[in-house]
Amino acid sequence: MAEKKRIGIALTGSFCTLKKVLDVLELLRGKYEFFPIMSQAVYQSDTRFGTAAHFKERFSALCGKEIWHTVAQAEPIGPKKILDALVIAPCTANTLAKLALGVTDTAVTMAAKAILRNDRPIIIGLSTNDALGGAARNIGALQSARHYYFIPYGQDDPFLKPRSCVAHFELLEQTLESALKGEQLQPILKA
Ligand SMILES: Cc1cc2nc3c(=O)[nH]c(=O)nc-3n(C[C@H](O)[C@H](O)[C@H](O)COP(=O)(O)O)c2cc1C
Repeated sequence: MAEKKRIGIALTGSFCTLKKVLDVLELLRGKYEFFPIMSQAVYQSDTRFGTAAHFKERFSALCGKEIWHTVAQAEPIGPKKILDALVIAPCTANTLAKLALGVTDTAVTMAAKAILRNDRPIIIGLSTNDALGGAARNIGALQSARHYYFIPYGQDDPFLKPRSCVAHFELLEQTLESALKGEQLQPILKA
């Protein structure tokens, strides 16, 4: 039997979509070896969408591993070539901006830098109210950068949140499988 792919899963602070992403990952349990990573914002924030303790416990149990949440914990991904791919979902406008500019100050951006060093794919599942506003330039920058792939996304509430876009997280696996072959799943834009 082929060895399971080793996939980093990074959660960033789009707190309203954390449950949805974890529900999708639950369905993929056993198919991949998941390595859990969290931004410090997710690791330490209690919000109206749930406590940090709840999300940490669920994520760690789902992956069967301790969560990497510091730059130092994520750094060995590069030299030790630990991961075949990195999925950042949900990905905030904040993390997108950092990735577009090469800023490395969270476990998530460190993991991204480490993956790029090894010429391996990063899959972005964006979720931001600002996708068609201030974050648009960063989305454009990453969509035209090597090794970045996007889970198809669309406007989630065009009239009440006119610049908001969210990934269709249920397409995470298909996007990941395409990215592992060096292909972007199409169509990228999906209502
Ligand atoms: C309740 C709550 C919900 C949020 N939802 C989002 C979101 O959906 N998308 C987004 O880009 N930022 C969102 N933010 C803002 C980010 O959490 C914030 O920019 C944070 O610094 C992100 O850090 P990270 O990218 O390192 O996780 C939200 C913040 C809070 C408190």
